[in-house]
Amino acid sequence: FDIKTFQEDLIGWYIREKRDLPWRKDQDPYKVWVSEIMLQQTRVETVIPYFNNFIKKFPNVEALANADEEEVLKAWEGLGYYSRARNLHSAVKEVAAKYGGKLPDDPKQLGKLKGIGPYTKGAILSIAYNKPEPAVDGNVMRVLSRILLIEEDIAKPKTRRIFEEAAANLISKERPSDFNQALMELGAMVCTPTSPSCLLCPVQEHCLAFSEGLQEKLPVKTRS
Ligand code: ADE
Repeated sequence: FDIKTFQEDLIGWYIREKRDLPWRKDQDPYKVWVSEIMLQQTRVETVIPYFNNFIKKFPNVEALANADEEEVLKAWEGLGYYSRARNLHSAVKEVAAKYGGKLPDDPKQLGKLKGIGPYTKGAILSIAYNKPEPAVDGNVMRVLSRILLIEEDIAKPKTRRIFEEAAANLISKERPSDFNQALMELGAMVCTPTSPSCLLCPVQEHCLAFSEGLQEKLPVKTRS
Protein backbone atom coordinates (compact mmCIF):
# COMPACT_ATOMS: atom_id res chain seq x y z
CA PHE A 1 0.00 0.00 0.00
CA ASP A 2 1.57 3.27 -1.13
CA ILE A 3 0.53 5.83 1.48
CA LYS A 4 2.09 8.78 -0.33
CA THR A 5 0.22 8.34 -3.61
CA PHE A 6 -2.96 7.49 -1.69
CA GLN A 7 -2.70 10.83 0.14
CA GLU A 8 -1.98 12.70 -3.10
CA ASP A 9 -4.87 11.10 -4.98
CA LEU A 10 -7.32 11.67 -2.12
CA ILE A 11 -6.30 15.26 -1.33
CA GLY A 12 -6.05 16.18 -5.02
CA TRP A 13 -9.62 15.01 -5.57
CA TYR A 14 -10.81 16.88 -2.49
CA ILE A 15 -9.23 20.14 -3.63
CA ARG A 16 -10.85 19.78 -7.07
CA GLU A 17 -14.28 18.55 -6.03
CA LYS A 18 -15.08 19.61 -2.48
CA ARG A 19 -18.48 21.08 -1.77
CA ASP A 20 -18.59 24.76 -0.94
CA LEU A 21 -19.84 24.43 2.65
CA PRO A 22 -20.17 27.43 4.99
CA TRP A 23 -17.84 25.96 7.65
CA ARG A 24 -15.13 25.49 5.04
CA LYS A 25 -14.73 29.23 4.40
CA ASP A 26 -12.09 29.58 7.10
CA GLN A 27 -10.37 27.56 9.79
CA ASP A 28 -11.85 29.45 12.75
CA PRO A 29 -11.76 26.86 15.59
CA TYR A 30 -15.07 28.12 16.99
CA LYS A 31 -16.85 27.62 13.67
CA VAL A 32 -15.26 24.23 13.16
CA TRP A 33 -16.44 23.30 16.65
CA VAL A 34 -20.04 24.44 16.09
CA SER A 35 -20.20 22.70 12.71
CA GLU A 36 -18.84 19.41 14.01
CA ILE A 37 -21.32 19.36 16.90
CA MET A 38 -24.22 20.06 14.53
CA LEU A 39 -22.99 17.47 12.01
CA GLN A 40 -22.72 14.69 14.61
CA GLN A 41 -26.29 13.45 14.31
CA THR A 42 -27.60 15.63 11.49
CA ARG A 43 -27.21 15.67 7.71
CA VAL A 44 -25.17 18.34 5.93
CA GLU A 45 -28.13 19.84 4.02
CA THR A 46 -30.11 20.22 7.24
CA VAL A 47 -27.18 21.71 9.12
CA ILE A 48 -26.30 24.44 6.56
CA PRO A 49 -29.10 26.95 7.36
CA TYR A 50 -28.85 26.30 11.11
CA PHE A 51 -25.10 26.83 11.03
CA ASN A 52 -25.42 30.10 9.12
CA ASN A 53 -28.10 31.41 11.45
CA PHE A 54 -26.22 30.28 14.56
CA ILE A 55 -22.98 31.97 13.48
CA LYS A 56 -24.83 35.17 12.58
CA LYS A 57 -26.40 35.22 16.05
CA PHE A 58 -23.34 34.00 17.97
CA PRO A 59 -20.31 34.87 15.81
CA ASN A 60 -17.65 33.91 18.34
CA VAL A 61 -16.97 32.29 21.72
CA GLU A 62 -17.65 35.52 23.59
CA ALA A 63 -21.04 36.06 21.98
CA LEU A 64 -22.17 32.51 22.68
CA ALA A 65 -20.77 32.54 26.22
CA ASN A 66 -22.77 35.68 27.00
CA ALA A 67 -26.03 34.36 25.55
CA ASP A 68 -28.87 32.94 27.65
CA GLU A 69 -29.46 29.21 27.34
CA GLU A 70 -32.99 29.93 26.16
CA GLU A 71 -31.68 31.92 23.19
CA VAL A 72 -29.20 29.16 22.34
CA LEU A 73 -31.86 26.47 22.46
CA LYS A 74 -34.11 28.62 20.30
CA ALA A 75 -31.41 28.82 17.61
CA TRP A 76 -31.06 25.03 17.88
CA GLU A 77 -34.83 24.38 17.63
CA GLY A 78 -35.55 21.78 14.96
CA LEU A 79 -32.05 20.27 14.93
CA GLY A 80 -32.83 17.90 17.77
CA TYR A 81 -30.53 16.27 20.33
CA TYR A 82 -30.69 19.40 22.45
CA SER A 83 -28.08 18.18 24.92
CA ARG A 84 -25.62 19.00 22.11
CA ALA A 85 -26.60 22.67 22.40
CA ARG A 86 -26.51 22.67 26.21
CA ASN A 87 -23.10 20.99 26.29
CA LEU A 88 -21.73 23.34 23.62
CA HIS A 89 -22.99 26.37 25.53
CA SER A 90 -21.52 25.12 28.78
CA ALA A 91 -18.16 24.30 27.15
CA VAL A 92 -18.03 27.67 25.39
CA LYS A 93 -18.56 29.41 28.74
CA GLU A 94 -15.66 27.39 30.14
CA VAL A 95 -13.45 28.37 27.19
CA ALA A 96 -14.35 32.03 27.74
CA ALA A 97 -13.64 31.88 31.47
CA LYS A 98 -10.60 29.61 31.52
CA TYR A 99 -8.86 30.12 28.18
CA GLY A 100 -9.65 33.75 27.33
CA GLY A 101 -12.05 32.68 24.61
CA LYS A 102 -9.45 30.70 22.66
CA LEU A 103 -10.34 27.06 22.13
CA PRO A 104 -7.36 24.99 23.37
CA ASP A 105 -5.17 23.24 20.80
CA ASP A 106 -3.95 20.84 23.48
CA PRO A 107 -5.65 17.43 23.07
CA LYS A 108 -5.93 16.87 26.84
CA GLN A 109 -7.59 20.21 27.55
CA LEU A 110 -9.81 19.98 24.49
CA GLY A 111 -11.00 16.47 25.35
CA LYS A 112 -12.13 17.57 28.81
CA LEU A 113 -14.67 20.04 27.47
CA LYS A 114 -18.31 19.00 27.63
CA GLY A 115 -19.53 17.38 24.44
CA ILE A 116 -16.08 17.00 22.89
CA GLY A 117 -15.45 13.28 22.47
CA PRO A 118 -12.60 11.62 20.56
CA TYR A 119 -14.13 12.31 17.13
CA THR A 120 -14.85 16.02 17.71
CA LYS A 121 -11.46 16.46 19.36
CA GLY A 122 -9.69 15.00 16.33
CA ALA A 123 -11.83 17.00 13.92
CA ILE A 124 -11.04 20.30 15.67
CA LEU A 125 -7.32 19.56 16.07
CA SER A 126 -6.94 18.55 12.43
CA ILE A 127 -9.34 20.92 10.64
CA ALA A 128 -8.80 24.07 12.71
CA TYR A 129 -5.25 23.56 13.99
CA ASN A 130 -3.84 21.40 11.20
CA LYS A 131 -2.53 18.76 13.60
CA PRO A 132 -2.13 15.18 12.32
CA GLU A 133 -4.83 13.68 14.58
CA PRO A 134 -7.34 11.06 13.44
CA ALA A 135 -11.03 12.03 13.36
CA VAL A 136 -12.93 8.77 13.14
CA ASP A 137 -16.72 8.65 13.01
CA GLY A 138 -19.00 6.07 11.42
CA ASN A 139 -18.44 7.46 7.93
CA VAL A 140 -14.68 7.38 8.22
CA MET A 141 -14.84 3.83 9.62
CA ARG A 142 -16.83 2.78 6.55
CA VAL A 143 -14.31 4.36 4.16
CA LEU A 144 -11.28 2.91 5.93
CA SER A 145 -12.86 -0.53 6.32
CA ARG A 146 -13.06 -0.66 2.53
CA ILE A 147 -9.76 0.92 1.56
CA LEU A 148 -7.77 -1.20 4.02
CA LEU A 149 -10.15 -4.20 4.07
CA ILE A 150 -10.64 -4.08 7.82
CA GLU A 151 -13.22 -6.65 8.89
CA GLU A 152 -13.59 -5.63 12.53
CA ASP A 153 -17.16 -5.15 13.71
CA ILE A 154 -17.86 -1.40 13.81
CA ALA A 155 -20.79 -1.99 16.19
CA LYS A 156 -18.28 -2.88 18.92
CA PRO A 157 -17.12 0.09 20.99
CA LYS A 158 -13.53 -1.22 21.06
CA THR A 159 -13.27 -1.16 17.27
CA ARG A 160 -12.97 2.63 16.96
CA ARG A 161 -9.44 2.37 18.41
CA ILE A 162 -8.39 0.06 15.60
CA PHE A 163 -9.63 2.54 13.02
CA GLU A 164 -7.99 5.44 14.85
CA GLU A 165 -4.66 3.67 14.59
CA ALA A 166 -5.24 3.01 10.90
CA ALA A 167 -6.21 6.66 10.36
CA ALA A 168 -3.17 7.89 12.31
CA ASN A 169 -0.94 5.84 9.99
CA LEU A 170 -2.56 7.17 6.82
CA ILE A 171 -2.98 10.86 7.64
CA SER A 172 -0.90 13.35 5.71
CA LYS A 173 1.51 15.08 8.07
CA GLU A 174 1.74 17.97 5.59
CA ARG A 175 -2.01 18.51 5.16
CA PRO A 176 -3.95 16.96 8.05
CA SER A 177 -6.92 19.30 7.64
CA ASP A 178 -7.46 18.57 3.95
CA PHE A 179 -6.77 14.87 4.48
CA ASN A 180 -9.41 14.36 7.19
CA GLN A 181 -11.98 16.46 5.38
CA ALA A 182 -11.24 14.50 2.20
CA LEU A 183 -12.00 11.22 4.00
CA MET A 184 -15.31 12.69 5.22
CA GLU A 185 -16.11 14.02 1.75
CA LEU A 186 -15.31 10.69 0.14
CA GLY A 187 -17.66 8.96 2.59
CA ALA A 188 -20.42 11.45 1.82
CA MET A 189 -20.09 11.68 -1.96
CA VAL A 190 -18.52 8.46 -3.25
CA CYS A 191 -17.95 5.76 -0.64
CA THR A 192 -21.59 5.73 0.47
CA PRO A 193 -23.20 3.11 2.75
CA THR A 194 -25.02 1.33 -0.10
CA SER A 195 -23.89 1.13 -3.74
CA PRO A 196 -20.63 3.07 -3.41
CA SER A 197 -19.53 4.80 -6.66
CA CYS A 198 -16.30 2.85 -7.04
CA LEU A 199 -16.01 3.62 -10.76
CA LEU A 200 -15.78 7.35 -9.91
CA CYS A 201 -13.59 6.90 -6.85
CA PRO A 202 -10.34 8.87 -6.80
CA VAL A 203 -8.65 6.17 -4.71
CA GLN A 204 -10.12 3.10 -6.41
CA GLU A 205 -6.65 1.84 -7.34
CA HIS A 206 -5.69 1.85 -3.64
CA CYS A 207 -8.86 0.17 -2.38
CA LEU A 208 -8.36 -3.38 -1.13
CA ALA A 209 -12.11 -4.03 -0.83
CA PHE A 210 -12.67 -3.00 -4.47
CA SER A 211 -9.86 -5.24 -5.67
CA GLU A 212 -11.62 -8.17 -3.95
CA GLY A 213 -15.16 -7.09 -4.90
CA LEU A 214 -16.03 -6.75 -1.21
CA GLN A 215 -17.00 -3.07 -1.08
CA GLU A 216 -20.69 -3.82 -0.50
CA LYS A 217 -19.90 -6.30 2.29
CA LEU A 218 -18.02 -3.71 4.32
CA PRO A 219 -18.06 -2.42 6.95
CA VAL A 220 -18.93 -5.42 9.10
CA LYS A 221 -21.65 -4.31 11.48
CA THR A 222 -23.46 -6.80 13.75
CA ARG A 223 -26.99 -6.09 15.12
CA SER A 224 -28.79 -2.69 14.92
N1 ADE B 1 -19.41 15.49 8.60
C1 ADE B 1 -18.74 15.64 9.74
N2 ADE B 1 -17.86 16.65 9.66
C2 ADE B 1 -17.98 17.17 8.41
C3 ADE B 1 -17.37 18.22 7.71
N3 ADE B 1 -16.44 18.97 8.31
N4 ADE B 1 -17.73 18.45 6.45
C4 ADE B 1 -18.69 17.69 5.89
N5 ADE B 1 -19.31 16.69 6.48
C5 ADE B 1 -18.97 16.43 7.74
